[in-house]
Amino acid sequence: MYILGIETSCDETAAAVVEDGRILHSNVIASSAAEQNLYGGVVPEIASRRHIENISAVADAAMKEAGLTPQQLDAVAVTFAPGLIGAVLVGTNYAKGLAYAAAKPLVPVHHLRGHIAALYLTYPELKPPFLCLVASGGHSHIVQVESYTKFRVLGRTVDDAAGEAFDKVARTLGLGYPGGPAVSKAAVGGDIRGYTLPTPHVEGKYNVSFSGLKTAVLNVINQCAMKGEELRTADLAASFQFRITDILAEKLLLAAKDAGAKTLCVAGGVAANALLRENLTKQCKKQGITLYLPELAFCGDNAAMIAAQGYYELLAGNTAGLDLNSLPTLPIDYRE
Ligand code: KG4
Ligand code: ZN
Repeated sequence: MYILGIETSCDETAAAVVEDGRILHSNVIASSAAEQNLYGGVVPEIASRRHIENISAVADAAMKEAGLTPQQLDAVAVTFAPGLIGAVLVGTNYAKGLAYAAAKPLVPVHHLRGHIAALYLTYPELKPPFLCLVASGGHSHIVQVESYTKFRVLGRTVDDAAGEAFDKVARTLGLGYPGGPAVSKAAVGGDIRGYTLPTPHVEGKYNVSFSGLKTAVLNVINQCAMKGEELRTADLAASFQFRITDILAEKLLLAAKDAGAKTLCVAGGVAANALLRENLTKQCKKQGITLYLPELAFCGDNAAMIAAQGYYELLAGNTAGLDLNSLPTLPIDYRE
């Protein structure tokens, strides 16, 4: 089955065609990140405007690259939640129009379920159940993926998401947006013990908290300024990156130990972090755990992952009518 995926929940306008949830035929992305960088973060209104301008051309390009007409598609899958509401509405409405015009099923896809499905594009052997860390700009979850469409959240952030913490620290350090890659770049050559940053205490065994860590970085910057000392930016970026990735890895491995899980996955924009990947690869090897990391191209927002998850939602009968609504928030374990 050929599924066209549409993704517009943040600053990427994306469309892709995937066959049977696994085989990629096209993957087109137009990002407004460079423009958003001028403002130090995503301005929702700008994101929505760029989606409106780009969505038709991006979707046409994805179908052309796959060599398919809308009539040859089996379904149109779209991120309908969660996301910036003005942004996600653009994709949802476009998908509705296309599905209606071509008389194809419309498949609503939860954005985080899509991030997890990105792994299916790379690993044909990967099948649920498995334990997955989903870390993006808006969420940090440890999820038990029970089946392709059944999820159980074991832990989550109680305040900032991991990507959000990277973005906020990058902005404070004047490193630009998106913050994750900017912090990683600034950390090169820095000493991970250059500054002592706390591991915040948090209720809930698998929960995480990053707002205290972000405040600790702010305090270092302010104290340096007050004392007239020069800030060692590389050391601070390295110390922050080490602490946050260490917390994520530790919680995921703890959840794996308790569950006796032998397969672990990571998904979402933060899965692109080289230190996190290296840390987990080493520890999983030591503990005899099989670790699946998404290809770098599929870590950040894309529509291939939406088309992949769309296939499994379609198989489960999760289609929608033209009254499908977009939602700014929705738990990953929502009931259809
Ligand atoms: O999944 P994603 O593309 O969009 C959301 O669903 O939010 O994640 C974007 C987030 C941003 O906060 C970005 O700073 C972070 O992922 N990110 C990274 C890296 N690349 C992107 N964080 C850490 N290290 C990276 N290399
Ligand atoms: Zn995302």
